[in-house]
Parts: sequence; structure tokens; C-alpha cells
Amino acid sequence: MARLPQAFLDDLLDRLDIVEVIDRRVKLKKAGKNYMACCPFHDEKTPSFSVNPERQFYYCFGCGAGGNALGFVMDYERLDFREAVEGLAQSVGLEVPKDDPRGGQEPPKDDNKPLYQALEHASKFYEHALRQHPERHKVVNYLKRRGLTGEVARDFRVGFAPAGWDNLMQASGTDEASQERLMRSGMLVKNDQGRTYDRFRDRVMFPIQDQRGRVIAFGGRVLGDDKPKYLNSPETPVFQKSRELYGLWQARKHPRRLERIVVVEGYMDVIALAQHGIPYAVATLGTSTSETHLERLFRLVPEVVFCFDGDDAGRKAAFRGLEATLPAMQDGRQAKFLFLPEGEDPDTLVRAKGQAYLENLFDHADPLETFLFKHVAEGLDLESMDGRARFSKLGAPHLHRLPEGVFKTLMYQALAEKTGIDVESLKRLQPPPAPRPQRVESGAQAPSASETAPPMEQDAPPPEDSVSMEEPALQSLSPSSLNPIHRLIGLLVLKPALVGNVPDNLLVTEGSRDAVLLSEIVAHIRQYPEVTTAALLGFWFGTPEGDFLNALAGRETIEEDAGLEALCIALIEKLCRHPALNAARQQFEALKRKPYGELTQEEKQALLSLTQEIRTLSGRT
Ligand code: UTP
Ligand code: MN
Repeated sequence: MARLPQAFLDDLLDRLDIVEVIDRRVKLKKAGKNYMACCPFHDEKTPSFSVNPERQFYYCFGCGAGGNALGFVMDYERLDFREAVEGLAQSVGLEVPKDDPRGGQEPPKDDNKPLYQALEHASKFYEHALRQHPERHKVVNYLKRRGLTGEVARDFRVGFAPAGWDNLMQASGTDEASQERLMRSGMLVKNDQGRTYDRFRDRVMFPIQDQRGRVIAFGGRVLGDDKPKYLNSPETPVFQKSRELYGLWQARKHPRRLERIVVVEGYMDVIALAQHGIPYAVATLGTSTSETHLERLFRLVPEVVFCFDGDDAGRKAAFRGLEATLPAMQDGRQAKFLFLPEGEDPDTLVRAKGQAYLENLFDHADPLETFLFKHVAEGLDLESMDGRARFSKLGAPHLHRLPEGVFKTLMYQALAEKTGIDVESLKRLQPPPAPRPQRVESGAQAPSASETAPPMEQDAPPPEDSVSMEEPALQSLSPSSLNPIHRLIGLLVLKPALVGNVPDNLLVTEGSRDAVLLSEIVAHIRQYPEVTTAALLGFWFGTPEGDFLNALAGRETIEEDAGLEALCIALIEKLCRHPALNAARQQFEALKRKPYGELTQEEKQALLSLTQEIRTLSGRT
């Protein structure tokens, strides 16, 4: 998601009324201060979906879905961030500013329109050449030889860039403005002598379309065996490889309901699968799968199947796919990994064996957990203690990157079973000291600030707070049993003015994710004292923390302001004792790790008094 100026997003949320926005899509019924409906995001007979007009956010007590008006529209209409913003902005007469990575205040005007026009024109030119050009037969024959029907070629707008240095230049207008547009849209190349010429010559052309069907780039394949086999557009203001997926537009507009998406490696794979009854394949564009890709796919479908060549390169690509997938693995989502026999790709396989064969392979692909553990165990002897130790060291950091949820809990349990190391210790494991390869994508430009993993996901995660470690996954908790930091965060999101009760140094010495998030929220509210619940959720929107904040705010059962404040004060009091509590817990854990028989009399005594101390400090007397 490209960063829009926060001031603009706040303004947009300000002008929207969430009740109106949702009621237009799902009929709401007034119930006390709130509005209720049957949840549109899961099957239910009695309403547990509630909309809070005062705080401008919604929450489903059944499935945990929640957020502000923008998030609702994205999820309900399956739009990406940009599309949802545009639709909503239009409905309240706001103009969307251009992407601004610096989050600036002055919204510049959208100047990409001419690029879209130039690219659309180029695509029409290539499509036309495939039907009219004197040399078209060699391309048509090539495509026929590869088994393409005219129909699928039309659907994917396949074209032909004839041989010659300036066909597209001539066809697009030789004036300076047209040339400049072509250059900026990546269709021209400038050589050392300063001469410009068509980038794509004598190639089969595959236009790349964005989520709205606009042509934003091209891939071009040679007709023979020349190198490079494929040429791709460079990144331009309208084309970022790490965001776009070839074939996603066609998959989305296909009348069949999307239930899963298969990620393959090549243009021809996408097209061949579509032609053979599998209209739900997409390809990354000469880059590895990014977290943005995954977020985008999981917004559309609950299941993503990665399909790779069975060779070494395929395995490497699969592992990068896995790394991009981990942060997106919220409960209810499934990722699978399929390796094809060496020398085959989806294109050749589907032509040889047909749709049912391929779909059967997709059905039985390795689930993420199987692939992850298999991959990590490679070359290790799990019979040996050393092998199991290495296995846990290598595996745990991947699990750290999973979002909170039942899946994460189960994964830790699985790793614990495989290694004989208990879950708590696994959670504390840092990655091994050996330098880890950076998670950057080859050839892709650095994603914008809001697309990079949040700080807590980079490198070694900080040791987890001992409170959250001993508690089960967030999803399974009721608010009263939430840990105090979580609950305080939820209160602050619901009623930012409560920040006045928070002492300056609360938990600042603690490095846990929860404590860091708490201090970020506190700092944010202090900086913007007028901030509302919806604007706060909007600020963290689209990040793992954003989802977490939704859940925390949604779970608070107290409605009255006075009740919220009293609880806030009680929680803060408790948290002031927190460092002492942590220290007591650590001592307790250390003692508990010793076999009981080896404890000295003093240590046994210490265990007892620590238990008592922990009880008192945590208020569980
Ligand atoms: P492959 O080499 O596996 O080719 O590249 P393919 O898709 O099977 O191509 P066909 O079937 O011979 O036509 C997979 C993908 O990697 C990118 C392209 O996106 C291609 O579809 N690629 C490959 C390039 O960008 N440049 C190249 O030179 C080769
Ligand atoms: Mn191929």
C-alpha cells in the first residue's frame, strides 16, 4: 500500500460516517448506542457484528473482524487500499492526492494519466499488429504451436511487437511530449549516444494489467531461442514489480467465484492454465513473491498455492515465497507449496495432463507447515541432540514472524514436539548468529515505508514479554483475561483521551513487542491529542499491529466512559509493578527448569515465596 498523507486519510475518515458506509452495504439495526447486523464476513444466524457510531469502528464478536470504514470497504468489496480510498473519497467529494512516500502535506496532482494512455495505446498497437502486420504469420504460428487459442490470446491481450527500431515511436506520435511519455512509461531505451529506440522489438507481447485492468507494463518473449528469452518493462511510476501480479485482473474478472489462487512462475503458465479451465493463476514478474503480493492475494481468497519448478532455483524461489507468506498467515488463511517434476512447468503439464490432474496436485500440495519444517530440517539429523537443537534454532525465528493466532500456537507446539524443547523456550530462541540472507527481492525497488515489515519483524524479534508468553493466543481470550498491556492498549484506542492517566516512564525499560507498541500509541496520542479511534486504527491500518489493535479495541466490554477510566487507572497501577513481576517470573522459571530433586532447601523455599510474590504482583490473590 502506497503511503498517502496521513492528513488526507484522517480528513477522509472524518467526513465518512461508518454507519452510513456499512448500512449501504449491509442493513444495520439500531441496538442501544450501537448498530448490529449478521456478520458479512462469516456465516451466522444471530447478529454479532456491531458498529459503534461514536468511535466510528466496527467489530464482530463472532469472527473478530474489525476496523474502520476504510477497512470495512476493502474487506467487503475486496478492494485494495488505493481502490477503497478512491471510492470513498469520491463519495464525499475529496480528491485523492498522489502517492507521497514522504507523507507530505501538499497533495500534488495525479500526473500518471498520460502514462496509462501511452501504455494502453501501445497495447492496442501490438494487438493490432498481431492481426494486421505482414509478418504476423510467424507469431500466429508460434502461438498456435504452443497451443494458444485465439480466444485466450484475446482475453490476455497478447500482441506482437514487429522487428524494427521505432515502430511504436512512430505510431505514438513523434512530438516531444509523446516521446517523453513513452520514455517515462518504460517503452523506450536510450543508448550511450543518446539515441532512443523501442524497447520491445520482434517479440510476442504480454501486457501486464493492474487490478483495474489498466495496462501498466509489458513482458515480451522472443520467438526463437535468442537471449534474453523475456524482456520486461522497467519499474515506472505506474509499475512496481513487488506489487503487481500477472493475470490477477483476468482472474478477478472471471465469472467463477475465486476460491484459491495459484502463483506460478511464467506468463505462459498463467495463460495455459486459464485456457485449460484454471482461470485463477497469477505470476510474479521476474521477481520473487513479496509480502505485498501475499497481502493482496489473501484479501481475495483464503488459499494461495505456490507452484514451482522442481529444480534448485524453484526451491530457492519457494523459500522466498515462504518468507513473504509468514507474516500474512492469519488464522483461516492457507498457503501451500507444490513442486513440479524436473523439466515440467504448469504450461507443459496442463497441456499434457489436463485440468483435473493439475487441480489434484494443487489439492495435495504441501501445506506451509510441512514445507517449512521439511526445508528447515534439510541436512540435519533429527535423531541427534545437536540436530534437534539446530532444528529449533533455525525453525523458531520463522515462527516468530507469524501473526498472533491459533495457527502460530499450533506451529510452536509442533516444533516443540519435533525437538523436545518446550514452547516457552522456543519462543525465546533467537536466530543463530550466522549471517542470514537479507529478505530483499532481486531487482525490485525497495518497497515504500508502509510496505516494509514493521520494525518488530525485522531481524531478531525482541524477547517476548513474559506475560504474553504464558497466555494462550489472543483469539482465544476474553477481554477480562487479556494481559494488562493489551487491555490498556485497547482502552487507549477506544478512548485516546485516557492517555492523560499514563505516566511518562511506564514500561519504558521493557523491550517486549507489547511494551513497544504501547509506548508508540501513547506517543502518537500525545502528538495528536485530537486523534479519534478511527484515525488511530487508520494510522496503523494494513500492518499486523493494525489488526491487533482492532482486536484489542473490539474486545473491550465496558461501554461507559467512567468505567473505562477506572479500569485504565487500575491497569496502570498494575503495570507499574510490572518490572518487579517480570523479574520474579524469570527467577521462578530458572528455578523451575532444574529437576526438583536437585533443588536445595533454600531454592525450594524461594520457589514458594516467588509463587506468592507473583500472585500478589499480578493481582491474582
Ligand atoms: P522460464 O524460463 O521458466 O520460462 O521463466 P517460461 O515461463 O517457461 O517461458 P516459456 O514457456 O519458455 O515461454 C519464467 C518467468 O521468468 C521470467 C518471465 O517472467 C518468465 O515468464 N523471465 C524468464 C524473465 O523475466 N526473463 C528471462 O529471460 C526469462
Ligand atoms: Mn514454459
